[in-house]
Amino acid sequence: MGVGNDVVVLETLPYHTASPRSHGFRKLRCRLPASFEHHPALKLYFRIVYGVAEGPSFLGKSRDSFANSEGKVMDFSDKTVVVTGAGSGIGRAIAIGFCSDGASVMGIGRTSGDLEETARLCAAGKMHFVVGDVARPEDVERLFSGAVRRHGKVDILVNNAAVYPKVAFLESSQEDWSRVISTNVIGMALCCRVALPGMLARGVGRIINIGSFAWKGPIRNSSAYSVSKAAVHVLTKSLATEIDRSQYPDVLINELMPGVVRTKMSETGIAPIDVYPHVRFVASLPRNGPTGRAFVQSTLHIEDYGLRARLKRFVGRASRGLVWSE
Ligand SMILES: NC(=O)c1ccc[n+]([C@@H]2O[C@H](COP(=O)([O-])OP(=O)(O)OC[C@H]3O[C@@H](n4cnc5c(N)ncnc54)[C@H](OP(=O)(O)O)[C@@H]3O)[C@@H](O)[C@H]2O)c1
Repeated sequence: MGVGNDVVVLETLPYHTASPRSHGFRKLRCRLPASFEHHPALKLYFRIVYGVAEGPSFLGKSRDSFANSEGKVMDFSDKTVVVTGAGSGIGRAIAIGFCSDGASVMGIGRTSGDLEETARLCAAGKMHFVVGDVARPEDVERLFSGAVRRHGKVDILVNNAAVYPKVAFLESSQEDWSRVISTNVIGMALCCRVALPGMLARGVGRIINIGSFAWKGPIRNSSAYSVSKAAVHVLTKSLATEIDRSQYPDVLINELMPGVVRTKMSETGIAPIDVYPHVRFVASLPRNGPTGRAFVQSTLHIEDYGLRARLKRFVGRASRGLVWSE
């Protein structure tokens, strides 16, 4: 066609301008003449304004059109995936999805019957689990040593387990807060702590932390949960900054915000199985791909504030050939 490469960018809105429907972000669509896509000036623009080293050609690629360095979605047939909270909702769907793509899955959750049901729904013999609590270091050790004993390695960790108690702040106790923070944050950190050394030693690994926009637009009666999801965002970035990109270009840690999903946590939203393609997309990011970033489903989320935001508006208006619309 020659023209019309759509680049979709999610931009965080200042909180007061965000409607509940927008979840605090808006979609910007940028139509680029094809000849522009690889223009060095444009790459520089995206690097400065959006902090995206990959340039515009990466942003907004849909999961279907996205290709990794080999030109296709990662082959999961020899991969071992650890999924926390695999006994229900999104975690169960992720376990089923990876198993049907040929991976071996090791799950964890506190309810044995739920995990058995997930294993039954997965391709035969593909899913194993330990019954345990991600907030307990000994259970996390058991989870990873079990995965390594069975499969020799862990390639992908999906930190999905979380609790979401709906309680008004003034009625919440220290115990409520401890439970949320120790599961949603400390449990996630423990799993990363145990998974990362093996990934770094082999030079390959993907960690996907399931986040939420609850912290951008906090939901009533869920202050501890909202705070925990802010911590997930920061933890993801912090871990990525500690991993030397030049030495470990194939170890990527990202956050994935799935949107509203119909599970025990929410009566409305998309079906849990519809989250799996986005998890697969983030797991398939190529060597040298984004790390320490947040994805809203399969779209790279761009935070817009301060100098970068002002620069973006200025350069955006001034750039000939770039038409921005909401
Ligand atoms: N549903 C949504 O709209 C939505 C939106 C944005 C983000 N998310 C995120 O998506 C993830 C999955 O949530 P979901 O919606 O699928 O809800 P869910 O069905 O309640 O799943 C949570 C899972 O985590 C497990 N879990 C909880 N505490 C645990 C612990 N200490 N140790 C091990 N496993 C534990 C639970 O099993 P046991 O209780 O048996 O341990 C359960 O299987 C969460 O991180 C959530 O914050 C959900």
